[in-house]
Amino acid sequence: MTENNLDKGVDRFYSRFNYKEDTFNSHTESSYNLVDEINALDPKLVIDVGCGGNHLKGKIQNLIGVDAAKYEKADIQATHDELPNIFKDNCADVVLALGSINVGDKPRIYRHLEKVINLCKPGGIIVMRNRLAGEEATVFPEGKKNFKHELGIHWYPWTLDEIHQATETFKTRVEYYKEPVYERAMHKVHWSGLKNKRMLLGVYWWKKL
Ligand SMILES: C[S@@+](CC[C@H](N)C(=O)[O-])C[C@H]1O[C@@H](n2cnc3c(N)ncnc32)[C@H](O)[C@@H]1O
Repeated sequence: MTENNLDKGVDRFYSRFNYKEDTFNSHTESSYNLVDEINALDPKLVIDVGCGGNHLKGKIQNLIGVDAAKYEKADIQATHDELPNIFKDNCADVVLALGSINVGDKPRIYRHLEKVINLCKPGGIIVMRNRLAGEEATVFPEGKKNFKHELGIHWYPWTLDEIHQATETFKTRVEYYKEPVYERAMHKVHWSGLKNKRMLLGVYWWKKL
């Protein structure tokens, strides 16, 4: 699948299944709990890439929300690959990527991680949330309702090991500010056959070197 088709798939998927506030709020480590902690850093610019419904807008100071899909409340509609056309490198004190680097294969995932790192100032903070694969997790299993084929996107099989590997890969540019912790969140996608399950995610903070 081409990159362009994957981006269209993301737009199609999330435009149809907008990530709503109740789901956002169900994240135990990466929802409104971030507000006080990030405001305490007194950031002049916070960029929320893949902001969904932009629920942190007006709560975290100086925040701009960008998303590939059509969300009325996003400030800018753009993909991660378009970020360099919009923002200068090293411009943000804080970058949030809460569940938005989950789609595609390794080269795409690593390219998007790099885009996020580029946006952040040295000394700044990057907060990441990845949806984890594996037995415990409810990442859509291969073949489930032909999900992958039907909606034109596939999920990256993140694990905590993969998160450590990504951190190692970028070790000249970032280090853990907070090591990964598991997080649970509500999963309300009825058509997936996974109703009432809870997603398993990893949340970690990087400091840009
Ligand atoms: C799981 S939702 C989370 C939304 C929001 N961050 C939250 O926590 O409520 C992931 C979001 O990332 C966006 N996204 C995924 N891939 C993207 C990309 N390549 N560029 C921009 N946004 C992307 C999706 O459109 C979706 O709104």
